[in-house]
Amino acid sequence: MMIDIKASSPYKILIEKNNKDDIFNGLSDFVRSVNNYKNIAVITDDTVKKLYAENLLAQLKFAKKVAVFDFKHGERQKTLKTVNNIYDFLSKNYFDRNSLIIALGGGVAGDIAGFSAATFLRGIDYIQVPTTLLAAVDSSVGGKTGVDLKTGKNLVGAIYQPKGVYIDAAVLDTLDSKQILCGMGEVIKYGAIKNSSLFNDIEKGYGNSDILKIIEKCLLIKKEFVENDEKDTGIRQALNFGHTLGHAVEKAFKFKVPHGQCVVIGMILISKWAENKGLMNKGISEELVRISESCGFQTACPFSHNELVDIALRDKKVRDNFITVVLLEKLGQYKLFKTELNSLYI
Ligand SMILES: NC(=O)c1ccc[n+]([C@@H]2O[C@H](COP(=O)([O-])OP(=O)(O)OC[C@H]3O[C@@H](n4cnc5c(N)ncnc54)[C@H](O)[C@@H]3O)[C@@H](O)[C@H]2O)c1
Ligand SMILES: [Zn+2]
Repeated sequence: MMIDIKASSPYKILIEKNNKDDIFNGLSDFVRSVNNYKNIAVITDDTVKKLYAENLLAQLKFAKKVAVFDFKHGERQKTLKTVNNIYDFLSKNYFDRNSLIIALGGGVAGDIAGFSAATFLRGIDYIQVPTTLLAAVDSSVGGKTGVDLKTGKNLVGAIYQPKGVYIDAAVLDTLDSKQILCGMGEVIKYGAIKNSSLFNDIEKGYGNSDILKIIEKCLLIKKEFVENDEKDTGIRQALNFGHTLGHAVEKAFKFKVPHGQCVVIGMILISKWAENKGLMNKGISEELVRISESCGFQTACPFSHNELVDIALRDKKVRDNFITVVLLEKLGQYKLFKTELNSLYI
């Protein structure tokens, strides 16, 4: 299936699921339909390189030159240092304005490769080939790119749209359960804010559900937000449902617990808070608990609500005394609610 993203620079997402011995089968045609690229740099991490670089390279035989850059997997490599190594690699290999970068991997590879593409020679084309569920349903689309600083995550970056996104769901078969949960947290979020039919799709359990349908539904939601708020100054913040407290949970766990798991707890906590304040109908948080547990998430939180609000507010660059939180009108329909920072406590 194909999804069109009508951003300032429009592009297509192709979603398919090939057989194990045919991985990335449609990629060659997809890349050539974007442009006649002669030089291609593949940016990936060491794990994904071992698993899928060969499949990818088999699809790029039409190119004159293909070179692969890999970095050690993990968030810790999402730094300017890695980007600097990529700049050196690109220039030593004589990649020019007409070259293409392919980001092969999860959100880390996508963010690093996208930021390198946004800045090398003031911007060259890139195509996302996500290989984690999180990257497939979220980070590969929308053009947010960037790296972390010692002081915090995603503090340097650019909004720079890819020229295309190619998803072969077959590669998701090698993810472990922790990585699946990372993506499922965001899938539940999409269902909660915009399309509760996603809950029917996932309650049978990840392995039993139609993954292509899930990815498509999530990306149709992401498409709507990206097209209406490409620069992330307004409604796109609905995608942060559960993330204010979720990030605090992630910090409290010293980043040892998957992001998706923390977001699930964040969505439940903010919903309980809103239900108690009469801002949300009772029962929604219970439904979130039910669906999350059916996917294998823990829903109990070892930290107190107020402890987490402390953490959340501590890092907030306080512009004024107010914060916009994402709440639910009902399952499948979000609303933005502006409130005083202190009212987040219970
Ligand atoms: N740009 C955005 O809009 C956006 C949105 C959400 C998250 N993010 C970013 O995404 C990052 C997290 O992404 P992630 O969870 O994909 O992490 P990741 O890229 O580190 O991937 C997780 C792990 O899975 C491995 N892996 C990847 N594909 C695999 C496969 N098919 N089989 C087996 N192993 C595989 C990787 O080597 C890595 O060790 C964070 O840095 C976050 O800030 C960005
Ligand atoms: Zn998230």
